Amino acid sequence: MPTASRPATPHVVILPGDGIGPEVAREARLALELVAPDVSLEEQLLGGAAIRATGNPLPDETLEACRRATAVLKAPIGEPQFDAADIRPEQGMLRLRAELDAYANLRPAVQGPVDVLIVRELIGGLYFGARGVREDGTVFDTCEYHPRQVERIARRAFALAQGRRGHLTSVDKANVLDTSRMWRRVVDGLAPEFPDVRVEHMLVDNAAMQLATTPEQFDVIVTENMFGDILSDLAAAVTGGLGLAPSASLADGGPGIFEPVHGSAPDIAGRGIANPAAMLRSTALLLEHALGRPEEADALYRAVNAGLELAPTPDLGGTASTAELGQAIRAQLAVDGAASSA
Ligand code: NAD
Ligand code: IPM
Ligand code: MN
Repeated sequence: MPTASRPATPHVVILPGDGIGPEVAREARLALELVAPDVSLEEQLLGGAAIRATGNPLPDETLEACRRATAVLKAPIGEPQFDAADIRPEQGMLRLRAELDAYANLRPAVQGPVDVLIVRELIGGLYFGARGVREDGTVFDTCEYHPRQVERIARRAFALAQGRRGHLTSVDKANVLDTSRMWRRVVDGLAPEFPDVRVEHMLVDNAAMQLATTPEQFDVIVTENMFGDILSDLAAAVTGGLGLAPSASLADGGPGIFEPVHGSAPDIAGRGIANPAAMLRSTALLLEHALGRPEEADALYRAVNAGLELAPTPDLGGTASTAELGQAIRAQLAVDGAASSA
């Protein structure tokens, strides 16, 4: 049953963001309109664009729209001009994740024999711990976790491993950090509830090396916020590149946020050459997880793969523009649609 404040018919808030954001968001919107024409769409400001318009990286109007939505389809935010400013685009995004309680960040990386799902805790750890400046000028950020935060992300990861190859690698730095030792205890404490899942613990430095050299050994990786941030860029790199890597950030019940792993790519912004595949695959994750439409998700995912074969962008060694790849993907969806309705 939908709650009173959330619409009965699916409603998606699109956040076009900064840099290449609007370029890839446009392709995602066109594809979503094609595969799910009944879904209503609305665009709102987040990040640098929102700071320029309102002074706030997460305006109230955006937050309220996201709260009411079935799901949020978010393009990357961030602009170099704000890097040293007090008010930064990233603050808006981090706050949105926290406000929606989108703690479970699923980052799949798939190519050839490699099929790894990174389950990144998204609203705790170093990103959200106490921070400040001491009198002597020392600046500090602290890594904080409550066992409940670890338990809920670990439960998700166990359940996801159960539905896959039954192998869970919990990544930490337990040889140094107290938070990691607690993390291990919580994961081990849950293991008896999931007897069909083989649990392994791995230190994060070794995990980075293993991901770079033998990524096919992994099934599901569960890890804290910052380790997951770094390892997911690495996992993307070994499975075709950042331009291909999607993510889903899920809460227990409320709207999830669906966004690429990559950033706003200021180095190529405005040139129409960004790869929209990560954004489109994030749209497929939205169809699957938020709208419960696995068939449409699958059709979009297959169309993205076919489009990438026909019209690869420069990051993949091709010459297609963002719009050309987007068009190739939509053409593929049309072919697929015609074939299935024939
Ligand atoms: P980035 O991911 O934006 O770019 C890293 C490299 O990958 C660049 O060379 C870029 O051109 C390339 N790249 C990324 N996405 C691509 C795509 N779709 N197609 C082709 N090439 C692509 O990382 P960065 O440069 O470190 O960060 C830039 C900004 O993005 C920063 O402000 C950062 O805070 C922000 N950021 C935002 C998010 C987000 O919104 N979720 C994620 C990561 C970084
Ligand atoms: C990501 C990004 C963000 C993060 C930044 C922009 C705050 O790198 O989504 O991976 O670290 O979570
Ligand atoms: Mn990142």
